[in-house]
Amino acid sequence: MKKLAATQVPIHELLARRWSPRAFAERPVEPDKLVSLFEAARWAPSSSNEQPWRFVVATKDDRAAYNRLLACLLEGNRKWALHAPVLILSAASTTFEENAKPNLHAFHDAGMALENLLLQATALGLIAHPMAGFDHKQARVDLQIPSGFEPVAMVAVGYPGEATLLPDHLQQREANPRERNPLTELVYAGQWGIALPLRRS
Ligand SMILES: Cc1cc2nc3c(=O)[nH]c(=O)nc-3n(C[C@H](O)[C@H](O)[C@H](O)COP(=O)(O)O)c2cc1C
Repeated sequence: MKKLAATQVPIHELLARRWSPRAFAERPVEPDKLVSLFEAARWAPSSSNEQPWRFVVATKDDRAAYNRLLACLLEGNRKWALHAPVLILSAASTTFEENAKPNLHAFHDAGMALENLLLQATALGLIAHPMAGFDHKQARVDLQIPSGFEPVAMVAVGYPGEATLLPDHLQQREANPRERNPLTELVYAGQWGIALPLRRS
């Protein structure tokens, strides 16, 4: 299923194509494709080039590791994410390595890296669904995340599957149109509250 963004003005088709599906095929992700997701993440920009992101990844080839990540997901996510052949957790280092001062942009930058990963997945014909719905404490303990790092998000990755295999309410969500607030509500011209005129060249 494709759900191209209904954009107000044209954007790159890769950006328009990325979305957050829940219907995964059982087909495994090729190891070289999987590595390329992290290579894409690696090249994200970050404050002071700190690169605060880290990832824990598990595939169904290693059932114990996969189940450890799966068990961290909240029930609502676990129901559909268990079909994804790859689960990833992203984490962020919350202080700068050089001086141990708080890195106020750690989560921001981990998010940048994750978006790179999502877009690389999209470019490869994969689907990737980010999730905040997981037990952070359980992830810290079970995945042995050290102090100084915070779990940020989990992601289910795989190939697109049959939406008809999802429970009814999720089939409906799968078919719902993607929605965004209008540009006029989020971009201001020069000062807060002045809507940016939308000109087309
Ligand atoms: C940080 C983050 C956390 C999210 N958490 C969840 C989640 O726990 N469960 C879920 O089904 N979707 C989750 N999503 C997916 C969003 O619901 C989705 O990105 C949003 O509805 C926009 O849809 P789109 O990605 O298809 O454009 C999350 C997305 C992000 C970026």
